[in-house]
Amino acid sequence: MRKSIIAGNWKMHMTCAETREFAAIFRPLIADLPSDREVVIAPPFTSIPTLCRHLEGAGVFIAGQNVHWEEQGAYTGMISAPMLIEHGVTHAIVGHSEPRKYYSETDEQINLRARTAQRTGLMPILCVGESLDQREAAETERVIHRQVDQGLEGLDPLRVIVAYEPIWAIGTGKTCAAEEANRICGLIRGWVGNADVTVQYGGSVNPATIDDLMAQSDIDGVLVGGASLDAISFARIANYQAPVRT
Ligand code: PGA
Repeated sequence: MRKSIIAGNWKMHMTCAETREFAAIFRPLIADLPSDREVVIAPPFTSIPTLCRHLEGAGVFIAGQNVHWEEQGAYTGMISAPMLIEHGVTHAIVGHSEPRKYYSETDEQINLRARTAQRTGLMPILCVGESLDQREAAETERVIHRQVDQGLEGLDPLRVIVAYEPIWAIGTGKTCAAEEANRICGLIRGWVGNADVTVQYGGSVNPATIDDLMAQSDIDGVLVGGASLDAISFARIANYQAPVRT
């Protein structure tokens, strides 16, 4: 049975002081999580040591919001896998639509990042997803298929998480309908070619939509932006109620 991965992406939010406050509220709320799920949080790089310290022993995995493909070098502003691992980081988001859009990240670069993550022992969370224009032009399947093929080239599919994040649903309050998200996650599983790959949904996930999403057969977890910044709302998401899968 695939474990569910409930991941929070804090983006450029949360100072160390705010991180401490979050951890103090969040920790007791996730003390009794069922064993069918894992929680991951991707704080900004500067808050990683604080979050690790304050959630030590709570069973929460920590992710980098990105990772460079080189392990060191003249890359101003970037962060390497060994730098993350030194702090206890276990996962790294790659290919999120924001760096794809704002910093023109390509599928080739994203694949290099994912490969370096796997090689160094980090679990890449590869984000894929179509824009509104692409969806309206009936290009959704073609775009995502390409992102999956290129992003995962040369990777072990069992040491990667794929996150389906339709760009039109990110930060807009428009969650993709659970059945449609499930359909795309199922297609992704088929394109990866391994029934055991973990496929998440992301895009405006919140406490009101989580149970319906997690009841779907092909959705193995969620990647949460805005609603992960509030400890009570993210704890509710982590404590989702869904029928036990067999
Ligand atoms: P959102 O962000 O939950 O705020 O829509 C999701 C994401 O960007 O991963």
